[in-house]
Parts: sequence; C-alpha cells; structure tokens
Amino acid sequence: MSSSRIEAEPAAAAPPASIEPPDEADAEVWRRREIEPRGWIKRVLPRTMFGRSLLIVIMPLLLLQAIATWIFYDRHWAAISWRLSSGVVGDVALVIETLDHIGSEAAVTRLLARAEGLTDIHYTLARDARLPPPAPPGGTRLESQLRQAMLGRISEPWRITGLDNPDGLRIEVQLKRGVLTASVPWNLLYSYTTYMFVMWMVGSSLVLLAIATVFLRNQVKSLRRLAAAADNFGKGRYVPFFKVEGAIEIRRAAVAFMQMRDRIQRQIRQRTQMLAGVSHDLRTPLTRMKLALEILGDDPVVEELKSDVAEMEHMVLGYLDFARGEGSEVPVETDLSLLLEDVAATMRREGASLTLSAPPECLMTVRPNAVRRCLVNLVANARRHAAHVWITAAAGAEGLDILVDDDGPGIAPADRERVFRAFVRLDASRNPSTGGVGLGLTIARDVARGHGGDIRLETSPYGGLRARLHLPH
Ligand SMILES: Nc1ncnc2c1ncn2[C@@H]1O[C@H](COP(=O)(O)OP(=O)(O)OP(=O)(O)O)[C@@H](O)[C@H]1O
Ligand SMILES: [Mg+2]
Repeated sequence: MSSSRIEAEPAAAAPPASIEPPDEADAEVWRRREIEPRGWIKRVLPRTMFGRSLLIVIMPLLLLQAIATWIFYDRHWAAISWRLSSGVVGDVALVIETLDHIGSEAAVTRLLARAEGLTDIHYTLARDARLPPPAPPGGTRLESQLRQAMLGRISEPWRITGLDNPDGLRIEVQLKRGVLTASVPWNLLYSYTTYMFVMWMVGSSLVLLAIATVFLRNQVKSLRRLAAAADNFGKGRYVPFFKVEGAIEIRRAAVAFMQMRDRIQRQIRQRTQMLAGVSHDLRTPLTRMKLALEILGDDPVVEELKSDVAEMEHMVLGYLDFARGEGSEVPVETDLSLLLEDVAATMRREGASLTLSAPPECLMTVRPNAVRRCLVNLVANARRHAAHVWITAAAGAEGLDILVDDDGPGIAPADRERVFRAFVRLDASRNPSTGGVGLGLTIARDVARGHGGDIRLETSPYGGLRARLHLPH
C-alpha cells in the first residue's frame, strides 16, 4: 500500500510535495542526492554519526595533548637535559682537573676507581695514546647540548663517540699522559620522567577513547535501529515494535516514528475499507439498472445504455479488486526467479509468446501475490499490444530490476505518466470487451511503491514499450 493510491484521488488528498520526490525524478538519484555528501571537506570527514561523534571527542583531546607535549618538550625537557649534560661534563672536568695534580700511577688508578664509584661514570686511561681526529657532529639534540657543555668546561681536545651504543656514550679527552675515556651510561643523560609523561598522556587518551567508543556505540545503535525501521516501513515490510533507548532526542524520534507508522497504517486501512465499501455498494444499483434495461427492449438507445452500464460494472469490479488490495498480505522471503518462471509459465499456457531471462535465484522480502499481480498486469499489457514479450530480471547493488519489453506500438513519452492514473486508457475504443478498465498500471505501480520501488515506462530496444519494475533490497 502506498501513496500512489492517494495520488489517484483528486488533489485534495494528495500528500504535501515535500514528502515525495517529483514523479519525473529518478528515485535512485533522489536517494543518492540525500545520502552522498557534497563538498570535499564533507567527503573527507567520517560519514557515520559514530565516526563524527568520535572525531568531536578525540580532536580537541589530540590538539590539547599536542600543544602540551610541544610545550613540555621545548621548555621542560630541554632544560632538564641541559642540566643533566652539564652535570656529567662537570664531573668529567673535575676528574681531568684532579688528574693534572697527581703524579703517581697508583694515585691515578685510585682516583679513577673512586670517581666511578661516586658518579657511575666509568673511566679508563690509555697511556701514551693519541686521540684520532674528531668525527663531524651528529644532529641530535643531546649531542649538541653535550658539546655546548664541553666547550666551556674542558679545554683539552676531546670527542664524543658511541652515540648509537645501547649502554651509553663515551667522552674521550686527550691528556698529556694519554687518552682518558669516560663511559657515561644513558640514564645519567636522560630523564625517564619524560617518557612517563608521554606514556601517561597516550594511555589516558586511549582509556578516554575506549570509554567514548562504548558510550557512542550505544547511542548510535538505537539511531541505526530507527533508520532501519523507517527504511523497512518505506518498503512495505513488517516493522515490529522495537525497544526505544538512547538519548532523549532519539527516544522522542523513535516514539514519533511509531506513532506515525500507526497513523499511516490506520489511514490506509480506513481508505481501503471505504473505497471497497463504495465500489461494493455501487454494484446493487448497477444490477437494478441492468434489469430495468433488459425490460426496455432492443432500442438502439437502450443498447448504448446497456453498453455503458456494462462498462461501469467492469470498472466498479476492477476498482473493487484494486481497493481490496493486498493490504493484508504479509511480506515473506520469496525467490523472485521462481515467481517470474511461474508467471511466464501461466502466460505461455494462455498462449503468450514470451522469452524469460532471470538469474538462477533471487531472494527478496516481498508480498508474493502482490508482486505476481503487478507482473501479470505488465505482461498482460504487453501481450495485448504486441506479438512477443521479453521478461528480463537483473539483480544489482540497489535491488532487482525486472524489465518487461514488447515489440508493439509503445506509448509516446508524453503519455507515459498519464497512463498510471486510474481508468486512463489510450486505446481509441472505449469498449471494455476489447481491453481492460485502465487500472492495470495503477495497481502495478501501487504494488511497486508499496515495496519502496517504482515502475517507469521507457522505449524498448525491441521497438515497443519497456516497463521497468524496480524493487529495492
Ligand atoms: N505495452 C503497452 N503497449 C502500448 N500501450 C500500452 C501498453 N501497456 C499499457 N498501454 C496503454 O496504457 C493504458 C493503460 O494501461 P493499464 O494497464 O493501466 O490499463 P488497461 O490495460 O487498459 O486495463 P487493465 O489493465 O485494467 O485491464 C492502456 O489502455 C494502453 O493504452
Ligand atoms: Mg492493463
């Protein structure tokens, strides 16, 4: 059941224009226009609400941490490491200074051992050795700080090596009695609280991210459920009562949706019952008129009246059929390929010349009797106007397209929307015995739209009319 029934009525009952896409607009184009973001920024940003909410939570956090880290490194960390480097170089300088005033070898050994015990710097003295030329300075911050500290404190030639050594670096100084090597472990030069700070920041961000993810996922879940319910309702499927949860706005939207669903269903039911009632009640006076005409004899005027009454009866019966509709039918998972084969077989038995090409299996949730009726109406039209009918089904990402082609005269583009209106027939003769009442396409489109799809009329490559029935997944 869909609004197409309402559309067949006078304008007073027509829905506001904003609810439905204009008839000439392709439904898919309409849908894409709504879903696909425009502008490159929107295309780069996450598209789901979950992704966006997470971004809103995470972006300021990351920004704040980046600023904090930058300030920390640039000020605090630089100051601390400068102080550490100066301390180490000072210790080494003190040992060198003391060595200058010692004569005996035993005293030198004792001093170096004592200095190591007190400062954790390991000293070795290579007697009579020469210091190789200094290596070009590396680019690390630590090295440049060390060099800076050395410049003011050690006047002898020196060089720094072992910067990639895992245990620590070496400071080699050329003394008069040989080369003094001071092995400095890394922990004397680095402040490990720096890493603690960074780890703490990263860790706390991860914890926050995890908490935000859990909460956001719950919020988005109910929104997704609501979107799925709305989608299913639009496709004429059964929408059960779902648990309303999440933020108050989402709850309100869900409750409003449920109420809307109930109102629409009630309205459709009422309208259907009313139309069926009117059509049914019209049959009684029609039958009385027919009886009265029989009594009047064979006058040409009476014959004309008889023909008119017969046409009216035909129309009323057709309308009754239409109004009864398939409202009570429940959507079930159906193999549309089987259904198509069934329709084709029935039509062939009735003498139709027909070619069917469909995928081996095509499962969809539809009202099978309604879809059958829709297909039968399309094929019956093609049969009535053409010699051969081609039915082609093609499943795509968006759903299933069933094409009914014929090699008849077709319909002029200007008339292609008009024929969907109730009781519109293009045949010159209004004699009901030569054709239908003009409800076939109206009913077919009603069924298609009731499933969230549509029917469009196009020019067939076989020369006649192509009716394209689209059913979304
Ligand atoms: N395949 C076709 N080729 C040419 N004209 C068509 C074709 N299908 C429909 N038409 C035209 O569109 C009009 C409306 O079709 P519709 O199916 O609604 O009514 P009908 O076939 O006349 O009657 P009913 O289907 O109710 O028995 C038809 O009267 C016919 O003029
Ligand atoms: Mg028809």
